[in-house]
Amino acid sequence: MGIFHVKTEIYSGIGVREVLEMDNLKKVIIITDPVMVKLGLVEIVEKTLEELKVNYDIFDEVEVDPTLESVKKGLEKVMKFAPDKMIALGGGSAIDSAKSIYYFMKKSGKEIPIIAIPTTSGTGSEVTSYAVITDKKKKVKIPIKDEDMIPEKAILDPVFTKTLPRVVVADGGIDALTHAIESYTCKSANFYTQTFALTAIVGIFKNILKVYNNIEDEDARVEMGKASCMAGIAFDRSGLGINHSIAHVIGGRFHKSHGRSNGVILPYVIKFNSSDKETAKRYWQISKRLGLPSETKEQGAESLAVAVEVLNKCLGIPSCLKEMEIGWEAYKKLIPEMAKTAMEDICTDGNIKKVSQGDMEEIFQKIY
Ligand SMILES: [Fe+2]
Repeated sequence: MGIFHVKTEIYSGIGVREVLEMDNLKKVIIITDPVMVKLGLVEIVEKTLEELKVNYDIFDEVEVDPTLESVKKGLEKVMKFAPDKMIALGGGSAIDSAKSIYYFMKKSGKEIPIIAIPTTSGTGSEVTSYAVITDKKKKVKIPIKDEDMIPEKAILDPVFTKTLPRVVVADGGIDALTHAIESYTCKSANFYTQTFALTAIVGIFKNILKVYNNIEDEDARVEMGKASCMAGIAFDRSGLGINHSIAHVIGGRFHKSHGRSNGVILPYVIKFNSSDKETAKRYWQISKRLGLPSETKEQGAESLAVAVEVLNKCLGIPSCLKEMEIGWEAYKKLIPEMAKTAMEDICTDGNIKKVSQGDMEEIFQKIY
Protein backbone atom coordinates (compact mmCIF):
# COMPACT_ATOMS: atom_id res chain seq x y z
CA MET A 1 0.00 0.00 0.00
CA GLY A 2 1.34 3.41 -0.91
CA ILE A 3 1.54 6.35 1.45
CA PHE A 4 1.85 10.06 0.82
CA HIS A 5 2.23 12.70 3.48
CA VAL A 6 3.69 16.18 3.86
CA LYS A 7 5.19 16.82 7.25
CA THR A 8 6.00 20.51 6.93
CA GLU A 9 3.47 23.24 7.64
CA ILE A 10 3.90 25.60 4.70
CA TYR A 11 3.16 29.31 4.93
CA SER A 12 3.42 31.38 1.78
CA GLY A 13 2.96 35.08 1.28
CA ILE A 14 3.93 38.05 3.41
CA GLY A 15 3.87 37.52 7.15
CA VAL A 16 6.96 36.04 8.76
CA ARG A 17 6.08 37.85 12.00
CA GLU A 18 2.64 36.28 12.28
CA VAL A 19 4.03 32.80 11.85
CA LEU A 20 6.84 33.27 14.36
CA GLU A 21 4.43 34.84 16.84
CA MET A 22 2.10 31.86 16.61
CA ASP A 23 4.95 29.61 17.57
CA ASN A 24 5.35 30.93 21.10
CA LEU A 25 9.13 30.80 20.78
CA LYS A 26 11.36 30.98 23.84
CA LYS A 27 14.95 30.21 22.93
CA VAL A 28 15.97 30.17 19.30
CA ILE A 29 19.13 29.95 17.24
CA ILE A 30 19.30 31.36 13.72
CA ILE A 31 21.40 29.22 11.36
CA THR A 32 22.54 31.35 8.45
CA ASP A 33 25.48 32.58 6.36
CA PRO A 34 27.41 35.86 6.19
CA VAL A 35 25.66 36.96 2.97
CA MET A 36 22.26 36.90 4.69
CA VAL A 37 23.70 39.12 7.42
CA LYS A 38 25.08 41.54 4.82
CA LEU A 39 21.82 41.68 2.90
CA GLY A 40 19.94 42.63 6.07
CA LEU A 41 17.76 39.51 5.96
CA VAL A 42 18.96 38.28 9.35
CA GLU A 43 18.06 41.67 10.76
CA ILE A 44 14.42 41.22 9.70
CA VAL A 45 14.23 37.99 11.72
CA GLU A 46 16.19 39.48 14.63
CA LYS A 47 13.84 42.45 14.85
CA THR A 48 10.85 40.16 14.95
CA LEU A 49 12.41 37.99 17.64
CA GLU A 50 13.25 41.07 19.70
CA GLU A 51 9.70 42.36 19.41
CA LEU A 52 8.43 38.99 20.51
CA LYS A 53 10.94 39.00 23.39
CA VAL A 54 12.53 35.75 22.31
CA ASN A 55 15.96 34.82 23.63
CA TYR A 56 18.06 34.17 20.53
CA ASP A 57 21.56 33.57 19.25
CA ILE A 58 22.99 33.46 15.73
CA PHE A 59 25.29 31.03 13.96
CA ASP A 60 26.25 32.80 10.75
CA GLU A 61 29.17 30.70 9.55
CA VAL A 62 27.34 28.46 7.09
CA GLU A 63 29.38 27.93 3.93
CA VAL A 64 28.28 27.41 0.34
CA ASP A 65 28.23 23.61 -0.01
CA PRO A 66 28.59 23.27 3.77
CA THR A 67 31.53 21.27 5.05
CA LEU A 68 31.58 18.84 7.93
CA GLU A 69 33.83 21.32 9.75
CA SER A 70 31.34 24.18 9.52
CA VAL A 71 28.47 21.92 10.57
CA LYS A 72 30.54 20.84 13.60
CA LYS A 73 31.09 24.49 14.50
CA GLY A 74 27.37 25.13 14.29
CA LEU A 75 26.69 22.00 16.32
CA GLU A 76 29.00 23.19 19.10
CA LYS A 77 27.24 26.53 19.23
CA VAL A 78 23.83 24.87 19.34
CA MET A 79 24.91 22.52 22.13
CA LYS A 80 26.22 25.43 24.18
CA PHE A 81 23.18 27.66 23.67
CA ALA A 82 20.64 24.84 24.00
CA PRO A 83 17.78 26.41 22.00
CA ASP A 84 14.38 24.80 21.65
CA LYS A 85 14.02 25.75 17.96
CA MET A 86 16.32 26.49 15.05
CA ILE A 87 15.48 29.04 12.38
CA ALA A 88 17.29 28.14 9.16
CA LEU A 89 17.57 31.29 7.06
CA GLY A 90 19.16 31.08 3.63
CA GLY A 91 19.41 28.90 0.57
CA GLY A 92 19.93 25.15 0.47
CA SER A 93 23.27 25.43 2.31
CA ALA A 94 21.82 27.07 5.43
CA ILE A 95 18.81 24.76 5.56
CA ASP A 96 20.96 21.68 4.94
CA SER A 97 23.31 22.81 7.72
CA ALA A 98 20.42 23.16 10.18
CA LYS A 99 19.15 19.74 9.13
CA SER A 100 22.58 18.21 9.65
CA ILE A 101 22.80 19.83 13.09
CA TYR A 102 19.37 18.40 13.87
CA TYR A 103 20.60 14.99 12.76
CA PHE A 104 23.66 15.01 15.01
CA MET A 105 21.76 16.48 17.97
CA LYS A 106 19.17 13.73 17.64
CA LYS A 107 21.93 11.16 18.06
CA SER A 108 22.65 12.62 21.46
CA GLY A 109 18.99 12.48 22.38
CA LYS A 110 17.91 16.08 21.79
CA GLU A 111 15.61 16.99 18.94
CA ILE A 112 15.43 20.66 17.94
CA PRO A 113 12.73 21.35 15.34
CA ILE A 114 13.54 23.58 12.38
CA ILE A 115 11.65 26.55 11.00
CA ALA A 116 12.99 27.03 7.48
CA ILE A 117 12.93 30.42 5.79
CA PRO A 118 14.29 29.88 2.27
CA THR A 119 15.85 32.89 0.57
CA THR A 120 16.12 31.17 -2.81
CA SER A 121 13.56 29.31 -4.91
CA GLY A 122 15.26 26.13 -5.95
CA THR A 123 16.44 23.31 -3.70
CA GLY A 124 13.15 22.65 -1.93
CA SER A 125 15.30 21.81 1.10
CA GLU A 126 12.63 23.38 3.34
CA VAL A 127 10.44 20.30 2.82
CA THR A 128 12.85 17.47 2.03
CA SER A 129 14.43 14.76 4.15
CA TYR A 130 17.86 15.19 2.56
CA ALA A 131 20.94 17.19 3.46
CA VAL A 132 24.31 17.14 1.74
CA ILE A 133 27.51 18.03 3.53
CA THR A 134 31.05 17.92 2.19
CA ASP A 135 33.98 16.17 3.83
CA LYS A 136 36.77 18.43 2.56
CA LYS A 137 39.59 16.17 3.72
CA LYS A 138 38.25 13.08 2.00
CA LYS A 139 36.83 15.19 -0.88
CA VAL A 140 33.50 13.44 -0.73
CA LYS A 141 29.93 14.62 -0.38
CA ILE A 142 28.04 12.97 2.44
CA PRO A 143 24.31 12.70 1.80
CA ILE A 144 22.16 12.35 4.90
CA LYS A 145 18.57 11.19 4.72
CA ASP A 146 16.28 11.21 7.72
CA GLU A 147 12.53 11.82 7.78
CA ASP A 148 12.84 13.50 11.19
CA MET A 149 15.10 16.17 9.69
CA ILE A 150 12.25 17.56 7.60
CA PRO A 151 11.56 21.11 8.86
CA GLU A 152 8.50 21.56 11.05
CA LYS A 153 7.57 24.80 9.29
CA ALA A 154 8.52 26.53 6.06
CA ILE A 155 7.93 30.24 5.68
CA LEU A 156 7.91 31.30 2.04
CA ASP A 157 7.80 35.06 2.46
CA PRO A 158 8.76 37.05 -0.66
CA VAL A 159 10.48 39.64 1.55
CA PHE A 160 13.36 37.18 1.73
CA THR A 161 13.73 36.64 -2.02
CA LYS A 162 13.70 40.31 -2.99
CA THR A 163 17.47 40.61 -3.09
CA LEU A 164 18.17 37.46 -5.11
CA PRO A 165 20.86 37.96 -7.76
CA ARG A 166 19.68 37.08 -11.29
CA VAL A 167 22.08 34.20 -11.63
CA VAL A 168 20.65 32.60 -8.48
CA VAL A 169 17.09 33.10 -9.78
CA ALA A 170 18.11 31.24 -12.95
CA ASP A 171 20.14 28.44 -11.36
CA GLY A 172 17.71 27.83 -8.52
CA GLY A 173 14.66 27.95 -10.76
CA ILE A 174 16.08 25.52 -13.27
CA ASP A 175 17.11 23.19 -10.43
CA ALA A 176 13.50 23.21 -9.23
CA LEU A 177 12.30 22.54 -12.77
CA THR A 178 14.67 19.59 -13.02
CA HIS A 179 13.34 18.25 -9.70
CA ALA A 180 9.79 18.48 -10.98
CA ILE A 181 10.44 16.93 -14.42
CA GLU A 182 12.57 14.13 -13.01
CA SER A 183 10.08 13.46 -10.24
CA TYR A 184 7.21 13.29 -12.75
CA THR A 185 9.07 10.84 -14.97
CA CYS A 186 10.89 8.62 -12.48
CA LYS A 187 10.23 5.05 -11.40
CA SER A 188 8.57 5.70 -8.05
CA ALA A 189 6.33 8.55 -9.21
CA ASN A 190 2.72 8.19 -8.08
CA PHE A 191 -0.52 10.13 -8.43
CA TYR A 192 0.30 12.48 -5.58
CA THR A 193 3.92 13.22 -6.46
CA GLN A 194 2.92 13.73 -10.10
CA THR A 195 0.21 16.17 -9.13
CA PHE A 196 2.71 18.23 -7.16
CA ALA A 197 5.37 17.90 -9.87
CA LEU A 198 3.11 18.94 -12.72
CA THR A 199 1.77 21.96 -10.85
CA ALA A 200 5.35 22.94 -10.04
CA ILE A 201 6.38 22.64 -13.71
CA VAL A 202 3.54 24.90 -14.83
CA GLY A 203 4.31 27.40 -12.06
CA ILE A 204 7.99 27.55 -12.93
CA PHE A 205 7.42 27.99 -16.67
CA LYS A 206 4.92 30.74 -15.92
CA ASN A 207 6.96 32.70 -13.41
CA ILE A 208 10.69 32.12 -13.68
CA LEU A 209 11.28 34.66 -16.45
CA LYS A 210 9.07 37.21 -14.72
CA VAL A 211 11.31 37.00 -11.64
CA TYR A 212 14.51 36.81 -13.70
CA ASN A 213 13.61 39.94 -15.65
CA ASN A 214 12.09 41.87 -12.76
CA ILE A 215 12.99 40.89 -9.22
CA GLU A 216 10.45 43.48 -7.98
CA ASP A 217 7.59 41.27 -9.21
CA GLU A 218 6.43 40.11 -5.81
CA ASP A 219 3.56 37.93 -7.03
CA ALA A 220 5.89 36.03 -9.34
CA ARG A 221 8.35 35.55 -6.47
CA VAL A 222 5.57 34.09 -4.31
CA GLU A 223 4.60 31.72 -7.13
CA MET A 224 8.22 30.62 -7.66
CA GLY A 225 8.53 29.98 -3.93
CA LYS A 226 5.46 27.77 -4.00
CA ALA A 227 6.51 25.96 -7.16
CA SER A 228 10.02 25.10 -5.97
CA CYS A 229 8.57 23.96 -2.65
CA MET A 230 6.06 21.71 -4.43
CA ALA A 231 8.84 20.29 -6.59
CA GLY A 232 10.70 19.55 -3.36
CA ILE A 233 7.72 17.68 -1.90
CA ALA A 234 7.38 15.69 -5.13
CA PHE A 235 10.98 14.55 -5.46
CA ASP A 236 11.40 13.88 -1.76
CA ARG A 237 8.65 11.25 -2.07
CA SER A 238 9.48 9.90 -5.55
CA GLY A 239 13.22 10.28 -6.09
CA LEU A 240 14.91 11.69 -9.18
CA GLY A 241 16.75 10.38 -12.25
CA ILE A 242 20.03 10.46 -14.17
CA ASN A 243 19.93 14.22 -14.74
CA HIS A 244 20.80 14.64 -11.08
CA SER A 245 23.31 11.76 -11.13
CA ILE A 246 25.23 13.58 -13.87
CA ALA A 247 24.86 17.02 -12.27
CA HIS A 248 26.23 15.62 -8.98
CA VAL A 249 29.35 14.47 -10.82
CA ILE A 250 29.83 17.72 -12.78
CA GLY A 251 29.23 19.81 -9.65
CA GLY A 252 31.67 17.79 -7.56
CA ARG A 253 34.42 17.51 -10.21
CA PHE A 254 34.44 21.01 -11.60
CA HIS A 255 32.83 22.98 -8.77
CA LYS A 256 29.99 24.18 -10.95
CA SER A 257 26.65 25.37 -9.63
CA HIS A 258 24.27 22.46 -9.07
CA GLY A 259 21.29 24.18 -10.66
CA ARG A 260 23.23 25.42 -13.68
CA SER A 261 24.68 21.96 -14.31
CA ASN A 262 21.17 20.50 -14.16
CA GLY A 263 19.87 23.07 -16.62
CA VAL A 264 22.64 22.44 -19.15
CA ILE A 265 22.09 18.69 -19.00
CA LEU A 266 18.28 18.63 -18.99
CA PRO A 267 17.53 18.88 -22.75
CA TYR A 268 20.06 16.09 -23.47
CA VAL A 269 18.58 13.81 -20.82
CA ILE A 270 15.03 14.41 -22.09
CA LYS A 271 16.18 13.41 -25.57
CA PHE A 272 17.97 10.32 -24.25
CA ASN A 273 15.01 9.21 -22.14
CA SER A 274 12.51 9.85 -24.95
CA SER A 275 13.37 6.55 -26.62
CA ASP A 276 11.67 4.87 -23.65
CA LYS A 277 7.94 4.63 -24.31
CA GLU A 278 6.71 5.26 -20.78
CA THR A 279 9.03 8.22 -20.22
CA ALA A 280 8.13 9.73 -23.62
CA LYS A 281 4.47 9.46 -22.66
CA ARG A 282 5.08 11.40 -19.48
CA TYR A 283 7.07 14.12 -21.30
CA TRP A 284 4.13 14.33 -23.70
CA GLN A 285 1.72 14.76 -20.78
CA ILE A 286 3.86 17.62 -19.46
CA SER A 287 3.98 19.26 -22.89
CA LYS A 288 0.22 18.98 -23.27
CA ARG A 289 -0.28 20.66 -19.91
CA LEU A 290 2.12 23.44 -20.94
CA GLY A 291 0.29 23.93 -24.22
CA LEU A 292 3.29 22.95 -26.33
CA PRO A 293 3.00 21.16 -29.71
CA SER A 294 2.12 17.59 -28.71
CA GLU A 295 0.07 15.86 -31.37
CA THR A 296 2.05 12.66 -30.99
CA LYS A 297 4.01 11.37 -27.99
CA GLU A 298 7.27 11.81 -29.91
CA GLN A 299 6.42 15.39 -30.78
CA GLY A 300 5.40 16.11 -27.18
CA ALA A 301 8.69 14.79 -25.82
CA GLU A 302 10.67 16.78 -28.36
CA SER A 303 8.68 19.93 -27.61
CA LEU A 304 9.61 19.68 -23.95
CA ALA A 305 13.33 19.41 -24.77
CA VAL A 306 13.05 22.46 -27.05
CA ALA A 307 11.09 24.42 -24.43
CA VAL A 308 13.85 23.78 -21.89
CA GLU A 309 16.50 24.82 -24.42
CA VAL A 310 14.67 28.08 -25.07
CA LEU A 311 14.15 28.69 -21.35
CA ASN A 312 17.87 28.07 -20.72
CA LYS A 313 18.75 30.59 -23.37
CA CYS A 314 16.46 33.24 -21.86
CA LEU A 315 18.02 32.59 -18.43
CA GLY A 316 21.61 32.85 -19.66
CA ILE A 317 22.25 29.17 -18.97
CA PRO A 318 24.83 27.66 -21.37
CA SER A 319 23.78 25.06 -23.95
CA CYS A 320 26.72 22.74 -23.25
CA LEU A 321 29.55 22.19 -20.76
CA LYS A 322 32.10 23.62 -23.19
CA GLU A 323 30.53 27.01 -22.53
CA MET A 324 31.07 26.51 -18.79
CA GLU A 325 34.83 26.84 -18.99
CA ILE A 326 35.59 23.17 -18.70
CA GLY A 327 38.62 22.11 -20.77
CA TRP A 328 38.02 19.27 -23.23
CA GLU A 329 41.31 17.39 -22.78
CA ALA A 330 40.93 16.97 -19.03
CA TYR A 331 37.20 16.31 -19.40
CA LYS A 332 37.67 13.66 -22.10
CA LYS A 333 40.04 11.65 -19.95
CA LEU A 334 37.60 11.70 -17.06
CA ILE A 335 34.57 10.49 -19.02
CA PRO A 336 34.76 6.75 -18.15
CA GLU A 337 35.35 7.50 -14.49
CA MET A 338 32.66 10.19 -14.32
CA ALA A 339 30.19 7.88 -16.06
CA LYS A 340 30.97 5.16 -13.54
CA THR A 341 30.38 7.53 -10.62
CA ALA A 342 27.10 8.69 -12.17
CA MET A 343 26.03 5.05 -12.65
CA GLU A 344 26.55 4.47 -8.92
CA ASP A 345 24.66 7.62 -7.89
CA ILE A 346 21.52 6.94 -5.87
CA CYS A 347 19.38 8.84 -8.43
CA THR A 348 20.29 6.55 -11.35
CA ASP A 349 18.09 3.82 -10.02
CA GLY A 350 15.08 6.12 -10.31
CA ASN A 351 15.47 6.48 -14.07
CA ILE A 352 12.86 4.41 -15.91
CA LYS A 353 15.01 3.88 -18.97
CA LYS A 354 17.82 1.46 -18.16
CA VAL A 355 21.23 3.05 -18.58
CA SER A 356 24.47 1.20 -19.38
CA GLN A 357 27.99 2.43 -18.73
CA GLY A 358 28.28 2.95 -22.50
CA ASP A 359 25.07 5.03 -22.61
CA MET A 360 26.30 7.13 -19.74
CA GLU A 361 29.66 7.77 -21.42
CA GLU A 362 27.83 8.82 -24.56
CA ILE A 363 25.70 11.29 -22.60
CA PHE A 364 28.83 12.74 -21.01
CA GLN A 365 30.26 13.20 -24.54
CA LYS A 366 27.10 14.83 -25.82
CA ILE A 367 26.60 17.30 -22.99
CA TYR A 368 30.09 18.67 -23.58
FE1 LIG B 1 18.69 19.52 -7.44
